[in-house]
Amino acid sequence: MEKVVLNTAGAVSNILIGESVYNLAKYIPANQKTIIITDDNIAKLYAKAIEGFDVIVIPQGENNKTLATIDLIMGKLVEFEADRSTFIVGIGGGIVSDITGFAASIYMRGLNFGFVTTSLLSMVDASVGGKNGVNYGGFKNMVGVFNQPQFVICDIEMLKTLDREEFIGGMAEVIKHGAIKDKALFEFLENNYNAILKYDKDAIHRCIKDSVEIKANVVSQDEREKGERRKLNFGHTFGHAIEKLTMMPHGKAVAIGMNMAAAASVLLGHLSQNEALRLKKLTENFLLPTYLDADSNALFNAMKKDKKRDGASLHLVLLDSIGHAIIENVEYKKLEEIIHDMRLA
Ligand SMILES: NC(=O)c1ccc[n+]([C@@H]2O[C@H](COP(=O)([O-])OP(=O)(O)OC[C@H]3O[C@@H](n4cnc5c(N)ncnc54)[C@H](O)[C@@H]3O)[C@@H](O)[C@H]2O)c1
Ligand SMILES: [Zn+2]
Repeated sequence: MEKVVLNTAGAVSNILIGESVYNLAKYIPANQKTIIITDDNIAKLYAKAIEGFDVIVIPQGENNKTLATIDLIMGKLVEFEADRSTFIVGIGGGIVSDITGFAASIYMRGLNFGFVTTSLLSMVDASVGGKNGVNYGGFKNMVGVFNQPQFVICDIEMLKTLDREEFIGGMAEVIKHGAIKDKALFEFLENNYNAILKYDKDAIHRCIKDSVEIKANVVSQDEREKGERRKLNFGHTFGHAIEKLTMMPHGKAVAIGMNMAAAASVLLGHLSQNEALRLKKLTENFLLPTYLDADSNALFNAMKKDKKRDGASLHLVLLDSIGHAIIENVEYKKLEEIIHDMRLA
């Protein structure tokens, strides 16, 4: 087991990589009444781990990441007589952690909470960094708070029951971390993709640890996403537009989005063609898509609607080499040209 400590203004969050859900009790402050929030899938699969606790089960799926589910949780917390000394633990993927962190933060103006993360995406991304919230009015993560969990347990054993497509989708975020911040991680992925895809525990452990360190480091510098944290959106400005256009799962859309951002980096003169090809090859080796067969006007329009837009231009996260990201404010007119020039298919 390895520990990464995330320090932000006023909070310390311990991220425990390789710890087991069955050791959860060790991390709950002594004598604190504890309530678990999980989804109906995890509640069934890991019934033994939640035995003996008060449990709130929420329905799985992005459609349930809503204020209605928060309302349901508030009702249950009252029913369980939760008070200001109650400790909340979310056990699940990114949806459970986003919802749990938000619910715990607003009930009685805030209870202490922790997570057991069960999906690769939540281990390497969603559970780290203190963004908690729900979707609203068709927009993702529109309502929420910044608040850090006291601990995050990343139980690698639990990945064995995770759907393979979900696992591979999570790897897109690991590739992202290597591409923007860590050449050594990128090279490790180039050399070990086979082992990772065969669920080699040590190789997966390294992917999670490096990702958590990168994210924790960025978040400790820029918790509220004013600058450096934006780099974690590499591939996501294109990716979110692709998700909207095609309903493709997030990981696949980000995989294509990263390759588009790399193509844009080449066209803008920042990145060599050779390095863009390395990203393409690595993405393919993880069985993720690298291009989109879509109308470039539709893609451009979907990007313009992205909430991260800024007047007549938008911030694009680009690469100037493998392992190093830069942010450039690109005028819409220029972006339109780039999208046409990069030949989507
Ligand atoms: N807060 C953040 O900074 C942040 C960052 C990235 C993503 N997110 C959010 O994370 C969410 C996506 O997270 P996710 O992909 O983990 O989704 P998820 O929580 O829906 O999990 C995906 C599916 O896998 C199942 N599952 C999870 N772990 C399992 C396991 N060990 N065994 C078997 N099944 C398992 C879940 O029940 C669910 O059906 C999105 O809502 C996204 O907005 C948040
Ligand atoms: Zn993502």
